Amino acid sequence: MQHLAVIMDGNGRWAQKRHLPRLMGHRAGADALDRTMHWCKEAGIKYLTVYAFSTENWKRSEDEVSGLMKLLSHFIKSKEKELVENGVAFRVIGRRTDLSEKLQKEIAALEEKTKGGDFTLIVALSYGGRDEIVRAAERLFEKWRRGNMPRREDQVLTRQDAASPIDEQTFASCLDTAGIPDPDLIIRTSGELRLSNFLLWQAAYAEFYFTDVLWPDFDKAEFDKAIASFSKRDRRMGGRGK
Ligand code: IPE
Ligand code: IPE
Ligand code: MG
Repeated sequence: MQHLAVIMDGNGRWAQKRHLPRLMGHRAGADALDRTMHWCKEAGIKYLTVYAFSTENWKRSEDEVSGLMKLLSHFIKSKEKELVENGVAFRVIGRRTDLSEKLQKEIAALEEKTKGGDFTLIVALSYGGRDEIVRAAERLFEKWRRGNMPRREDQVLTRQDAASPIDEQTFASCLDTAGIPDPDLIIRTSGELRLSNFLLWQAAYAEFYFTDVLWPDFDKAEFDKAIASFSKRDRRMGGRGK
């Protein structure tokens, strides 16, 4: 497996069970992310994508949103040294312009400093699969308008047309995940059985692993279970399989 993606869900319920504020659940979730990154590296996985904040999560209370943004900013600042020392490249996918200018700058600086790491941590922030696809279409259109794409005048290009410059590869190169292989396995914690707008394009042939464990409780035993389950899957990709 090259790429593991995780929908880190259940922080709120974890806190509620302990009569703690929701933000304490998110803090405990950040620790679970630290551990998971370590296990991924040990297992030889090259990419870990985590869903940290969706385009829909802005609907939450101002308190929770600002607490989460502070936590993210803290994560970025406090992790720099560790990520650099451990060869971890940091990358953010999502609608960055929604974030404060300060946070945008911190992200860009960390991405620059960690460039070239042999393990990549991708954080989905103000991320929605549909939003990403719409932004990719906008980028594609912009390329087309500037003449950066093969173009034949006076012709309506369709997918059937061999000359159409837009194929899946071209489209994927306009997504935030350009250059990152599709996820092999997507884990969702906390018992919810849905994607909630995560990696819609990229999940086309991903395997799924759902567990009732709440994200802050995600431990090595559960990680191993997910990997073992994945290794038993027959990924036919539309073909005839093993
Ligand atoms: C996931 O935990 C983290 C974020 C969405 C930011 P939740 O906050 O959704 O936790 P639950 O689902 O309410 O338990
Ligand atoms: C998905 O969890 C987003 C993240 C884990 C960041 P949500 O808790 O927001 O999803 P729903 O609302 O249960 O679908
Ligand atoms: Mg949730």
